[in-house]
Amino acid sequence: MSVRVESPQQKIRVMIQAFVCGVLLSSVSSSSSWAFSPTEEGSDGEALYQAHCARCHEGQVKRAPHRDVMSRLPAVMVLHSLERGRMKFLGMARTNHERRALAEWITGKQLPPPTEKDETVAGFCADAPGEFVVEAGAPQWNGWGVDVFNTRFQSAEAAGISAEQVPHLKVKWVFGLPMDFRVSQPTVVGGRVFIGSLQGRIYSLDAKTGCLYWSVKTATGVRATPVIDNLPATTPPRYVVYVGDAAANVYALDARTGKELWKAQPPVCDHGR
Ligand code: HEC
Repeated sequence: MSVRVESPQQKIRVMIQAFVCGVLLSSVSSSSSWAFSPTEEGSDGEALYQAHCARCHEGQVKRAPHRDVMSRLPAVMVLHSLERGRMKFLGMARTNHERRALAEWITGKQLPPPTEKDETVAGFCADAPGEFVVEAGAPQWNGWGVDVFNTRFQSAEAAGISAEQVPHLKVKWVFGLPMDFRVSQPTVVGGRVFIGSLQGRIYSLDAKTGCLYWSVKTATGVRATPVIDNLPATTPPRYVVYVGDAAANVYALDARTGKELWKAQPPVCDHGR
């Protein structure tokens, strides 16, 4: 896919479906623990535990601490395990609300109220939200597989560097994400890096300096790679970030500002990563 040519809406739709379903099918076959049932408010910790945890934590799996043992843990410790500890791959399939309901029910203790403060939402660019301009022929890596066949082939022209230059690259900046494991692969378009995190955020960074243009919260973790395309019939052209989360929500965000244009849960799929 490319944002350099105006692409018909149809193509975008096919891309999104292929992207959501392709990723999703693999998760269906891998394990039934990836059964997603996102509910926001009123999550029932006991029901969630029975559906997603009980099969290992009632003595069946030796290494898994028994529920009696877990009930003596502080609630934040269980939450931490689901968010960034050993249970994060189960936790990422649940919404923030569900993870909290699980931690509170298992331990029988109340968590402190969630705080809106997020240490990753810092280091804003001085000109945020800035301009978002995609120059014809400028280097980019758009989406996971680069093209619709997922060949992951990047020509020297599209990369802006040659293969010989690769061993001589040096780290210019580092942006710390809360979970250091299996974040989404970054997309680079229009001089910006777009990346999702398992903690449920999408970031738009300046590719040159690493400063933050925007960050938006998603319902649950994001492991999918964002795809950028232009919004048809806009002058000057506006661009959209398409990305899916672990609960199979698909988001269309304004690439410049991060503003949500729409959010959908395609009926064709029940599962997502
Ligand atoms: C497929 C089996 C399996 C399932 C399902 C499972 N766990 Fe675990 N869990 C384990 C194992 C095994 C360990 C021990 C990990 C280790 O020691 O490396 C563990 C450890 C933990 C711990 C101890 C802290 C830690 O991070 O090691 C907590 C808390 C926990 N699980 C919570 C949960 C919750 C909540 C769920 C449901 C959302 C769940 N687990 C689902 C197998 C499972």
